[in-house]
Amino acid sequence: MTPKLVIASRNEHKIQEMRRILEQAGIHVELVGTAEFPDLPDVEETGSTFAANAMLKARAVSEFTGLAAVGDDSGLCVDALNGMPGILSARWSGSHGNDSANLELLLAQISQVPADRRNASFVCAAAYASPDGTEFVVEGEMNGSLITAPLGDNGFGYDPIFIPTGHQITSAQMSSEEKDAISHRGKALAALFALL
Ligand code: IMP
Repeated sequence: MTPKLVIASRNEHKIQEMRRILEQAGIHVELVGTAEFPDLPDVEETGSTFAANAMLKARAVSEFTGLAAVGDDSGLCVDALNGMPGILSARWSGSHGNDSANLELLLAQISQVPADRRNASFVCAAAYASPDGTEFVVEGEMNGSLITAPLGDNGFGYDPIFIPTGHQITSAQMSSEEKDAISHRGKALAALFALL
């Protein structure tokens, strides 16, 4: 029987991305999102690090479902803002999940920062928790720099203003496969699945 793993997310985009990464790694696991568990309470991201928040999600979902679970937490760390928005990336403009408001606010905040000081990194922590007590967290990073106006329609969040190091296009101008191969989430999940 194929083992079942719950992804602590209702975000179908993230779940599809994880399925692609698992497939590429040749790992046979049935991934299910938390949409399959409608009574699952929302897990509050009260941790002060990506790793702590990822583990809060994995642990809560594993305890509730009785199955092994993976939780992730990610965000953009901007050097000129001392690592912010960081764990507050999704809520930077105040309303959770408003990608374009978050991006516009960030662009305004760094409008006076010259091109050679616009370095930033996407960071992703991925945590695993299982009913047998096994727990671990791994992290992945994608370094790059921020441009001054959005370019590209793929991806989400801050992708349209982020050019990964060694590339000439934003991560919103890349195909999903191109981005997965270099992304913070791709790296964290590949490391996590390699440990399973
Ligand atoms: P999470 O869903 O709590 O991990 O929040 C992640 C937030 O960080 C998103 O809402 C985006 O603002 C940002 N973020 C994380 N990963 C990416 C990415 O791959 N591209 C663009 N934005 C991202």
